[in-house]
Amino acid sequence: MEQKKFYITTPIYYPSDKLHIGHSYCTVATDTMARYKRLRGYDVMFLTGTDEHGQKIERIANAQGVTPKAYTDKVVAGIKELWKTLHISYDKFIRTTDEYHIKTVQGIFKRLYDQGDIYKSTYEGWYCTPCESFFTQHQLVDGKCPDCGREVEKVKEESYFFRLSKYQDRIIKYMEENPEFLQPNTRQNEMINNFLKPGLEDLAVSRTSFTWGIPVEFDPGHIVYVWIDALSNYISALGYGSKDDRLFQKYWPADVHVVGKEIVRFHSIIWPAMLMALDLPLPKQIFGHGWLVINGGKMSKSVGNVVDPNVLVNKYGVDAIRYFLLREIAFGQDGNFSNEALIQRINSDLANDLGNLVSRTVGMIEKYFEGKLPQEQSCTEFDADLVQTAQTAISKIEAAMDNMMFSDALIELWNLIRRTNKYIDETQPWILIKEKANHSMLANALYHVAESIRIVSILLQPFMPNTPKLIWKQLHITAGELTTWESAKQWGKLPKALSVEKANAIFPRIDMKKELQELEDAIKASQATAIANQNKKEEDKKQSEIPQEITIDDFCKVQLKVGEVIASEKVAKSKKLLKNQVKIGDEVRVIFSGISQWYTPEEMVGKKVVVAYNLKPRKMMGEMSYGMILAADDGADKLSLLTVDNDIPSGADIS
Ligand code: MSP
Repeated sequence: MEQKKFYITTPIYYPSDKLHIGHSYCTVATDTMARYKRLRGYDVMFLTGTDEHGQKIERIANAQGVTPKAYTDKVVAGIKELWKTLHISYDKFIRTTDEYHIKTVQGIFKRLYDQGDIYKSTYEGWYCTPCESFFTQHQLVDGKCPDCGREVEKVKEESYFFRLSKYQDRIIKYMEENPEFLQPNTRQNEMINNFLKPGLEDLAVSRTSFTWGIPVEFDPGHIVYVWIDALSNYISALGYGSKDDRLFQKYWPADVHVVGKEIVRFHSIIWPAMLMALDLPLPKQIFGHGWLVINGGKMSKSVGNVVDPNVLVNKYGVDAIRYFLLREIAFGQDGNFSNEALIQRINSDLANDLGNLVSRTVGMIEKYFEGKLPQEQSCTEFDADLVQTAQTAISKIEAAMDNMMFSDALIELWNLIRRTNKYIDETQPWILIKEKANHSMLANALYHVAESIRIVSILLQPFMPNTPKLIWKQLHITAGELTTWESAKQWGKLPKALSVEKANAIFPRIDMKKELQELEDAIKASQATAIANQNKKEEDKKQSEIPQEITIDDFCKVQLKVGEVIASEKVAKSKKLLKNQVKIGDEVRVIFSGISQWYTPEEMVGKKVVVAYNLKPRKMMGEMSYGMILAADDGADKLSLLTVDNDIPSGADIS
């Protein structure tokens, strides 16, 4: 029989800064589902990655004096490190700067243009740089960005548009006929009533005002803007549009795109429209989860309330953090993060219920039977109910996982853990040990508890990657036949002559009062570092804008010379640049200059210009530029080259 496939994705993350616990939430949930499906025998493809283009990244990189790619390389390395820390088992990590992705996006853009789904027009509107979003006048709130409340910039530029409006009726029909498509259900009504029925506008899908993006191949001044670039990752990662599209043939359509609620609109409207235009099947499901909030507000760097997942993992271990995220918040709804709630969960659910169950069971087997249960065992009156509870828990967990209800699945699992603890209280091993005649019943009771723990450890695997292994070590189980999901449905697989080995508590109890203070200090320290870094960046930026006094010696370091432009041409892929051949004395240099809006190549030839001569050469549009031609700029729309009278020869010093 052919193995069933399961393709699941997270959003691709903006590498604008360190990711916080809110970002980790989405990825941990997706990872849990991927692990679960693998355990259920599926051939899983789990995709995550980074969304690296855009003006925001370009500006941050410029402010740091590095190229956007150098900047994203650094941040992406940190993101991969975080996923390692959180045991994220992705199968593929896509970067939108990957060459194959760029090619696929260019191919998609061209195809949509050729078939008339993309056309050229003029975009007029307001742009919020931090949110990377364009807004119409009526979408602004008090003249500011409706999402973050910050200042917006007016923009008017030539742009390509995607005919989104054309697909409106087909999308409404699709949603109505496929109620499973957008989950939770409430999100579907929101999309239909708030966006689709009032009417979709065509979408601006290219920009000319910045350069950090995928160039539109047939119109190089334009770069592909945001959503066509970002959303295509889900198919470009599988090789769609390339010579080798076997993964695409195998895994598409995706089973589920897991996304945060604020990007549901793009995934449930723009993405289906793009796929319809490309004549491709739609993903089976978009699941819009809620946010992790702090005191009711979204975690955000600008508010200074972000919680660094590394701080939490270092203190409590990855499994405790994953458990908290998945148990505390009903997937689909918002949920509050607080240090108290985290410690409370660790103490009650992990240390008390689970940790205690394992350590007291292993402890009793060691104490009463020197670590080895006897073969002969006789039943107790409580056995049947425990066995039944285990089987019911498994089917309820499966049902919950089918609906991505991670917290419900964990509630069912903890019912079994608590029932097992209750079984110990009912059978009272400490009383049974007293009578030799009861030892066979005692062995049976401890066997039942150990077998229940084996089942618990199997069911824990999707949620917690480490804990099951710690449990198996104590029960002398090796991963394999005794740890498959199906084996959890077979009571009694653990060998009767069980031997065990006690180890440290898997979840030590935490002193809430002492810990709260320490944890708050650690989180505050990490927030303070983040804020200090941010302030420093802003301060550096301000400093660089204040004109500084320099000494005559400083001034003399700049060598200015007269140069004569002997040839000039436009640079094909740039709207601004001219490539000039400049004669300076006996040498001829290539110098690029961003002046093509003001000077044609013909006007340049013969001009005697002022050249910054000893400037370090730098790469522009793939070629080296040796120096700079000086010009006066009024900061708005006027620019004039600095020139000298003709009778001064080229190569003359300017001082
Ligand atoms: N780059 C886009 C997605 C493009 S997908 C084709 C993007 N990136 S993001 O980095 O801003 O966000 C990535 C995901 O993190 C989103 O799903 C977002 O909802 C999620 N979260 C960011 N902060 C969050 C919380 N505080 N809580 C839960 N999820 C949050 O959007």
